[in-house]
Amino acid sequence: MRKFSMLIVLLVVAGFALSAMMAVSGSPDNDDRPAFPGFDDLKEAADTDNWRPYFPRQYEGWVGTAEMRETMYGGGGKAEAEDMDIKRINYLQMYPFLKVNYDGFPFSKGYYRSRGHYFALNDVIDTRRLPDWDARPATCLGCKSTDVVRLQAVHRDNWYAKSFAKVVGDNTIGCLDCHAPGDAEVRHARDWLDEGMAHGTFNNIDPEGRTDLVCAQCHTNYHFHTETRKVVLPWSTGLHVEAQLEHYDADRRSDEWVHPQTGALVAKIQHPEYELFHEGKEVNVHSMLGLQCTDCHMPTARAEDGERYTEHKWTSPLTHVESTCMDCHSRWGVEGTIERAEGVQGRVYRKQNRIGRELADFIEAVGEARANGGLDDDTLTRLQAIHREAQFYWDFIWVENSNGFHNWGEAHRVLDNAEALIKEGMELLNGS
Ligand code: HEC
Ligand code: HEC
Ligand code: HEC
Ligand code: HEC
Repeated sequence: MRKFSMLIVLLVVAGFALSAMMAVSGSPDNDDRPAFPGFDDLKEAADTDNWRPYFPRQYEGWVGTAEMRETMYGGGGKAEAEDMDIKRINYLQMYPFLKVNYDGFPFSKGYYRSRGHYFALNDVIDTRRLPDWDARPATCLGCKSTDVVRLQAVHRDNWYAKSFAKVVGDNTIGCLDCHAPGDAEVRHARDWLDEGMAHGTFNNIDPEGRTDLVCAQCHTNYHFHTETRKVVLPWSTGLHVEAQLEHYDADRRSDEWVHPQTGALVAKIQHPEYELFHEGKEVNVHSMLGLQCTDCHMPTARAEDGERYTEHKWTSPLTHVESTCMDCHSRWGVEGTIERAEGVQGRVYRKQNRIGRELADFIEAVGEARANGGLDDDTLTRLQAIHREAQFYWDFIWVENSNGFHNWGEAHRVLDNAEALIKEGMELLNGS
């Protein structure tokens, strides 16, 4: 198997190198396009419309993220109105157990399915989780806006603790988040990522110099620093779920709260796409083959005039399997590949929802026993520890946006551990 993988890696690397070379040289019809002069002013560079004249194809892709698509388990949303007038998929209606699991935390008040980059600013402004703009920390803007690049340049780490209302502007995620304003080179612009990587806790890949670090700026778990309110990536002891729990256990984190029913201290996990894809204890075949986020979410496209460029319409790869998966899976065909991917996702999707409900039942059972005064201190302490750990594992997979596709082996391992804990807790509760 090792030799077989090495051969595939070599073939894949050669293939991608070739297509990258063609992307650079294949721009025959660019003559009437103005040369990129670079921006001196970060305010100008933060407005994505200003990049349009120089890079119309990438700009078109960016605008295209406003398109609503639905796949079997993913895609950004629905074209028709779903909840009020905001065209969003309401998770609290779809999965009522979430209200129990997140009870006492803002996610029990408003939780919608994520959608394209075009909507990011709008959706954070609109969130029903933290409606008070003055009380909300500016950090919430951290993953939603190019303005952050300017805020960081001007205020260093002193802007995070300001009020959201003071710093919010008009710009959603855009070019400046991933490209340097002077020469448009791909680079990441969030120093919390460098701080996270400085722990040196990657096991499976060497992140240094990888293109997909631009995605790791935002598609990771995080919490706020207690004093500065700056984003912290919880990678001090490692990136897989047990290591992150260890990081949380060392201190109380900003997104931990005491669950009103069980009294346990629990943590809210946020979208760990980067960690699940590259750094599980179960190794992911696609990451091991050398694939990065960009390979599946930003495939090479060819314009009508033959120009090759990188697709900038971040969406579900299952909407463009032809340009993304067929180099390796042509034997399965387009339909066959989608079917297999959905098969992999379906098994994780059903399990994560079943365990989500089991967790809610457990929480309610503990809550009731606790309210009735029927638990001695030792038993309650053990039940709370079980709640904390089980919820951490379940949420890590539930909030990850690929429904297991990014690393199905790891997703099952982590969910199975959550379920075993809940079972242990139920037995303890029923035996007492
Ligand atoms: C091997 C191909 C592949 C790679 C590499 C990959 N993904 Fe994905 N990603 C997918 C597939 C397939 C889905 C599921 C889409 C669906 O359910 O419609 C997905 C889903 C997603 C989603 C949710 C999108 C949606 O439509 O619901 C996000 C966000 C995402 N990936 C980000 C990332 C990030 C960040 C990385 C790098 C750490 C990454 N992906 C690497 C294939 C890939
Ligand atoms: C500056 C932060 C930021 C960066 C950088 C970023 N993303 Fe996102 N991404 C988000 C946010 C926030 C959302 C959800 C927006 C919403 O729901 O309004 C999102 C949504 C997405 C979606 C759609 C999810 C869905 O459910 O439809 C995909 C796919 C995606 N990102 C992939 C990527 C990839 C791949 C990269 C790297 C090339 C990347 N993103 C870089 C913040 C970021
Ligand atoms: C989430 C990160 C991200 C954002 C946002 C983003 N890009 Fe890119 N861009 C990339 C990546 C990754 C590549 C491919 C780099 C590689 O593989 O060499 C790329 C490549 C490019 C290239 C080189 C030509 C090509 O197509 O490969 C240009 C030009 C470009 N982007 C312009 C833009 C413009 C203009 C915007 C805003 C409308 C933008 N990008 C937004 C990540 C991003
Ligand atoms: C660089 C080559 C490569 C690319 C690109 C790639 N895959 Fe894979 N994929 C593999 C290999 C190798 C395996 C493991 C061996 C196998 O199952 O054939 C695999 C396994 C899978 C499996 C598991 C099948 C099963 O039933 O166990 C699914 C599903 C899958 N890939 C879907 C996709 C999708 C969807 C895309 C595009 C978004 C994609 N792959 C892109 C190489 C690739």
